[in-house]
Amino acid sequence: MPDLLDKFDYASAELAKLQFLGVNPVGVVMEKILSPTRAIISGKETILLGTYNYMGMTFEPDVIEAGQKALTDFGTGTTGSRTLNGTYVGHKALEAALSDYYDTRHAMVFSTGYQANLGMCATLTGKGDYIIIDADSHASIYDGCAMGNADVVRFRHNDPVDLDKRLKRLPPEAGKLVVLEGVYSMLGDIAPLAELVRVSKANGAMVMVDEAHAMGFFGEHGRGVTEQAGCEAEVDFVVGTFSKSVGTIGGYVVSNHPKFEVLRLMCRPYMFTASLPPSVVATATAAIVKLKSVHAKRNQLWKSVKALHGGLKAAGFNLATKTPESAILAIIMPSQDIMVSLWAAMLEAGVYVNMARPPATPAGMCLIRCSVCAEHTDVQVQKVIAAFEQAGHVSGALGDMAAVA
Ligand SMILES: Cc1ncc(COP(=O)(O)O)c(C=O)c1O
Repeated sequence: MPDLLDKFDYASAELAKLQFLGVNPVGVVMEKILSPTRAIISGKETILLGTYNYMGMTFEPDVIEAGQKALTDFGTGTTGSRTLNGTYVGHKALEAALSDYYDTRHAMVFSTGYQANLGMCATLTGKGDYIIIDADSHASIYDGCAMGNADVVRFRHNDPVDLDKRLKRLPPEAGKLVVLEGVYSMLGDIAPLAELVRVSKANGAMVMVDEAHAMGFFGEHGRGVTEQAGCEAEVDFVVGTFSKSVGTIGGYVVSNHPKFEVLRLMCRPYMFTASLPPSVVATATAAIVKLKSVHAKRNQLWKSVKALHGGLKAAGFNLATKTPESAILAIIMPSQDIMVSLWAAMLEAGVYVNMARPPATPAGMCLIRCSVCAEHTDVQVQKVIAAFEQAGHVSGALGDMAAVA
């Protein structure tokens, strides 16, 4: 009998090789979480620089209290779909909080951001339609395309000229959805949204923007790059997640489309799964209400982003963006081996960062990715820069060895 898992032997072998070298990138266990920026890993206090807790909302006392109350009042889970028994007053309050935050008529909550993209891509476009996506789109957008029946067209990453060219080749009468992201998470670069949206609209396409890595700290009200770029009125759907700036789990889409509500009856990843538990819903609602007015946190986040970008650049690292564009700072590594060594040396120095490599990354790059949190202090940022300088030399990421790798 053929073993269906044989095709993954190459991955098992690679993991075994890393484990033999004493590195297990998928084996990190958070033994204790001390705060949004500190955890105990392998018995040691470690600075967290690889979470998506951008706004540091995971330990807000009033948010925790809201979750505890919902747990007591409504129990541990809904045990049902939103379209059956799984809509509680809390789910409606959460959708109202999202509508208020984005100033939109409609909001629909999914159980994850992954499902929001899956559902919106596969439901909005069908047979005979076209879904046009950036080549560097998140896996959930690619998977949404694979789940749907529309023809998929990819355009060059963040390239309005290529988007225009590809849109012009499509039949003018066909339905078209252009899917964009405000911030692209691998390199931490932001999209030229105003131009991309203008081109989409000029070619008769509807537009959806995923603001997963921008919600909370881009734009005057923290609505994302769409707000910052001044194109909210032209964007038909904004998708997001509660697993990053909101500090819990879940996904959503907001829109002013007059026919929006019918999606609740058509969208399979919304219907055919259990709704979020009441405690999660209550924490998401409380966090979103707070996010409207956390100007000090936003300022601190951007201050740390600039300091870290400047510090890493001055140390000699090759950063994916010339200027600090988002809360994700990606360092381009000369090789996979050096990436692994730097990651391990940083963990040893008490800083947790992320590794990323193909196929998750564009252009075959190996990356060390840092994500900044609003709760990182200036002292922590300086400690991180010092750790990077030292680990950079130990691992060969900096200096002569990096040049020859
Ligand atoms: C751009 C983007 N969209 C969607 C998601 C999915 O979010 P969630 O964690 O809520 O499933 C992610 C997750 O990393 C993401 O990076």
